[in-house]
Amino acid sequence: MARTIWFVVLLALGLTWNVEGAVNCTASGAGRIPEPTDTTCKNYTLCVRNSATGIYSSYDYVCPATSLFDPNTARCTTAYVCNVTDSTTSVCTTEGYIPNPNVTDCSSYVECVNIDGIFLEESYNCPSDTFFNPTNTFCESDYNCTSHVVPFTCKSAGRFANISDTTCKTYYFCVLAANGTYVQYDITCPGTSVFSPVSRLCTTLYICPVNI
Ligand SMILES: *[C@@H]1O[C@H](CO)[C@@H](O)[C@H](O)[C@H]1NC(C)=O
Ligand SMILES: *[C@@H]1O[C@H](CO)[C@@H](O)[C@H](O)[C@H]1NC(C)=O
Ligand SMILES: *[C@@H]1O[C@H](CO)[C@@H](O)[C@H](O)[C@H]1NC(C)=O
Ligand SMILES: *[C@@H]1O[C@H](CO)[C@@H](O)[C@H](O)[C@H]1NC(C)=O
Ligand SMILES: *[C@@H]1O[C@H](CO)[C@@H](O)[C@H](O)[C@H]1NC(C)=O
Ligand SMILES: *[C@@H]1O[C@H](CO)[C@@H](O)[C@H](O)[C@H]1NC(C)=O
Ligand SMILES: *[C@@H]1O[C@H](CO)[C@@H](O)[C@H](O)[C@H]1NC(C)=O
Repeated sequence: MARTIWFVVLLALGLTWNVEGAVNCTASGAGRIPEPTDTTCKNYTLCVRNSATGIYSSYDYVCPATSLFDPNTARCTTAYVCNVTDSTTSVCTTEGYIPNPNVTDCSSYVECVNIDGIFLEESYNCPSDTFFNPTNTFCESDYNCTSHVVPFTCKSAGRFANISDTTCKTYYFCVLAANGTYVQYDITCPGTSVFSPVSRLCTTLYICPVNI
């Protein structure tokens, strides 16, 4: 009798996990499976099959520190390069005009419009030989772009260029911690690679724009 109740409890828990897990373990089979909607390459699900019942339990994990989930080896590793373009995260947190985080030379800005809690963002280029001044939000010919230092704080998960770094070597990696806050890692691209704000990866193919 006790065994039957225990079995029913396990069965119920197993089904609950299976429904709530980010990965459908019945479809994927046993193993460590990357979460399909995760653009940070940090999340994976461990699918375990109960050999007696054939029912899967799923456990959601986040790779520790700066390591990423490599789907080829099914392990967390710092050697893996995340090849997912994080296009879902908006740069806007309030309405108005902000520097375009894709550029380091103040040549572009983003207009943020809040429509029912969802931000629409549209980027614009400053007229030639003018530079976006975040203080008064105008494009100005005499704005000193190199004096433009905005302290970075993580507001969404992903990789973000260090816009004060004119060498494009450093970037910020923002990871959502289990307690709901963002953990910020300051990362320097290895070797001769630089951070491409377009692909959001360290690459030798990106040409860092030179400030004039
Ligand atoms: C999970 O995958 C199985 C097998 O492909 C499918 O029958 C089942 O409906 C899926 N469950 C969910 C919740 O999508
Ligand atoms: C990744 O894991 C974190 C922490 O459990 C969670 O808050 C977040 O929603 C997950 N992201 C995706 C895309 O599943
Ligand atoms: C990323 O993956 C896509 C498709 O798998 C591939 O075409 C592309 O070359 C990869 N990019 C990098 C930088 O590895
Ligand atoms: C621009 O700002 C940088 C850093 O504050 C300073 O070193 C430089 O002299 C300034 N250039 C001009 C033309 O004011
Ligand atoms: C961002 O760039 C500035 C200027 O090169 C540098 O002083 C600072 O350390 C960089 N931040 C990080 C997190 O690497
Ligand atoms: C949330 O978790 C992160 C990572 O474990 C930790 O560094 C941070 O201090 C925590 N913040 C709070 C408010 O508990
Ligand atoms: C930055 O570049 C990416 C990739 O081209 C693009 O999807 C995104 O909209 C750009 N962001 C802004 C604010 O222009």
